[in-house]
Amino acid sequence: MLDKPSFPYGAGFRSLTAETPAPVALAVTGALPAWLKGALLRTGPSKFEVGARTYNHWFDGLAMLHRFALEDGGVTYANRFLKSKAFCTAEASGKISYSEFATDPCRTLFGRVAAIFDPKLTDNCCVNVSHYAREIVAFTETSMPMRISQDTLETLGVFGYGAALKGQVSTAHPHYDAKRACHYNYIADLGLRSLYRLCAIGDDGTEKLVAELPVDRPAYMHSFGMSGDHLILTEFPLVVNPIDLKLSGKPFIRNYRWEPERGLVFHVVEKDSGKLVRTAKVDASFAFHHVNAFADRDGLAVDVVAYPDATIIDQLYLARLRAGTKLTATGTLTRFHLPLKSEAPVTRRSLADVPLELPRINNESCAGKPYRYVWGTGIEAQGDFLDSIVKIDVATGQVSTWYAAGLYPGEPVFVPSPSANAEDDGVLLSVVLDTGK
Ligand SMILES: [Fe+2]
Repeated sequence: MLDKPSFPYGAGFRSLTAETPAPVALAVTGALPAWLKGALLRTGPSKFEVGARTYNHWFDGLAMLHRFALEDGGVTYANRFLKSKAFCTAEASGKISYSEFATDPCRTLFGRVAAIFDPKLTDNCCVNVSHYAREIVAFTETSMPMRISQDTLETLGVFGYGAALKGQVSTAHPHYDAKRACHYNYIADLGLRSLYRLCAIGDDGTEKLVAELPVDRPAYMHSFGMSGDHLILTEFPLVVNPIDLKLSGKPFIRNYRWEPERGLVFHVVEKDSGKLVRTAKVDASFAFHHVNAFADRDGLAVDVVAYPDATIIDQLYLARLRAGTKLTATGTLTRFHLPLKSEAPVTRRSLADVPLELPRINNESCAGKPYRYVWGTGIEAQGDFLDSIVKIDVATGQVSTWYAAGLYPGEPVFVPSPSANAEDDGVLLSVVLDTGK
């Protein structure tokens, strides 16, 4: 049974099905900086009903692409569905046809057997949009990112990986390394013998396998960490027996189990040599997002938005969100220190005692380096969905907050000023739901 509705945010989880392919001008209140020119591209789950069925989870919805073009103080908006196979098949058949995060198609017995031998990975890239090998690419958590047009939002096709990067599960949050002119990502190959594959995707499109790490029970990892010279795979103890993904008949995430006795395990790999330089364990935690990582004293600082456990996943089921139910699982900005020159234990400390999600930093200046500021969505009214924007000074723990009742901001994207001489000199772009409209 659902809890009693508490907050108006449920309005944000209705389907948006109207497309606006030709840009329309938006009303502007206030003044945008004259230097702010470009396009903010976003993706997100948007269509939650297909035929008579409703997807189960927020992360399942069919992806809509959004484009806000900013120029000469004005803003235009356009949106289009990502024309993935998941979307097009659903449109044509009136049925959910691809397995998503927490929803499977209805299958006959024959269909269930066929799916074991020919699993169809979803290409419903509703999680993130990023540059990738000099293209614009939408991502989900399978190895099926989709190339899109940054001007028209047209879907251009799958961003395919070569055989050396074979796998099914990946992250939607690749890291860009400007020095090495490549993105880093990981792809998990799940089967009788499972592997995590760390890879580098060059600006010139070249693919390089950086390291392979065998794993018995792969973890659900929504992101990973990157410092100047290292990649950090953070294995949360939410793990799967890969056989269950084929045989259980349950949707993807429901095959993962919370096994806190496994602890939280960090694997640190050198970018250039591919060498595994440290595996270290600490008490269990869960996270979706790494914030940043950098060389610190005798090792690495690895900052994540940590939760005590994985119940946040359960709290993001659609029926619960649509009812405006109280959210009780919240993450906080947490720094892990991983010694690399000794086997000394990993330590952890909270950097600020406020709820945080959808974290962003000044990526251009600070990715993989010591840094001072994190922006993200916060929770001002206890139990509410992400209802504010917070800025955290990681050096002092000081928190600044933007909040207005009934407004629900999305991820705040930091854009540095072209003449910036401070890390936080710039603007934040955030798409805000106004529940009063
Ligand atoms: Fe994410």
